[in-house]
Amino acid sequence: MRINGRFSDAEREAVYRAIFERRDVRRNFVPTPIPDAVMMRLLTAAHHAGSVGFMQPWDFVVIRNRATKRAVKDLFIDANTKASARYTGAKGALYRGLKLEGIEEAPINLCITCSRRRGGSSVLGRSTVRATDLYSTCCAVQNLWLAARAEGIGVGWVSILDHEKLKRVIGVPKSVTVLAYLCLGYVSKFEDQPDLEAAGWRSRIPVGELIHDESWGNRIQDKRGDGDAHHQGLYKNGGRGKNQAGRRTTGVEGQPAGRSLRHDR
Ligand SMILES: Cc1cc2nc3c(=O)[nH]c(=O)nc-3n(C[C@H](O)[C@H](O)[C@H](O)COP(=O)(O)O)c2cc1C
Repeated sequence: MRINGRFSDAEREAVYRAIFERRDVRRNFVPTPIPDAVMMRLLTAAHHAGSVGFMQPWDFVVIRNRATKRAVKDLFIDANTKASARYTGAKGALYRGLKLEGIEEAPINLCITCSRRRGGSSVLGRSTVRATDLYSTCCAVQNLWLAARAEGIGVGWVSILDHEKLKRVIGVPKSVTVLAYLCLGYVSKFEDQPDLEAAGWRSRIPVGELIHDESWGNRIQDKRGDGDAHHQGLYKNGGRGKNQAGRRTTGVEGQPAGRSLRHDR
């Protein structure tokens, strides 16, 4: 029997499992098609996100066509070539070794947009922070990402794209903002760690460094653990810990892992 809307232990564990085992997926996609009914569950989960003034500013463009994916992949190559030029030396070599999209391997690509004028000129709750419609659409993305994990479907977010060019490829009207371009598909495995962590690009910041007690700067560091869900006893996932490359990962703003910083992140 449920008391006051509480989840059973197993239900609660399942929610945390989806959260801690969600990964950004760029590899390991298998060609198995995603059934329409499953896709509808994911899109409906996204559609049940919170939104400012109940604006529901999102639309979903579902892409299966190979030629469209190829055109988007070309946009990625252009944008990524420019992005990689920002890194030199060892960092540049590391960047160029990263896999940052799975556009053509994923059976479905999904573009999630934000219609910034939906709901008329006065949207309840948006008068002070105009970007709350964009925040709302991010909530929809996260709902879909977590629901997909529960379905065994990997999702990868590709932001290294010129969104104006992308809009022309998939016919998104000028007045509508592209919020996310996602690659979806069943996978042979979900990795235990973020790819960027495994590659030695960056490591998870200890959560204690990010929690302030009553006012900014009054850190409770070291009192509440290191931010690793496994070590915190929030969720058991045996594969966590050292990065797969065996390299030392960088921490906050490129500092060596474990060193605490005192400035704003
Ligand atoms: C807004 C946003 C944009 C992102 N863009 C990219 C991207 O273009 N390419 C990529 O490989 N990963 C992208 N990612 C995934 C992040 O790199 C990833 O979430 C992060 O490394 C943590 O890994 P995890 O999602 O597996 O926990 C993006 C994530 C977010 C939230």
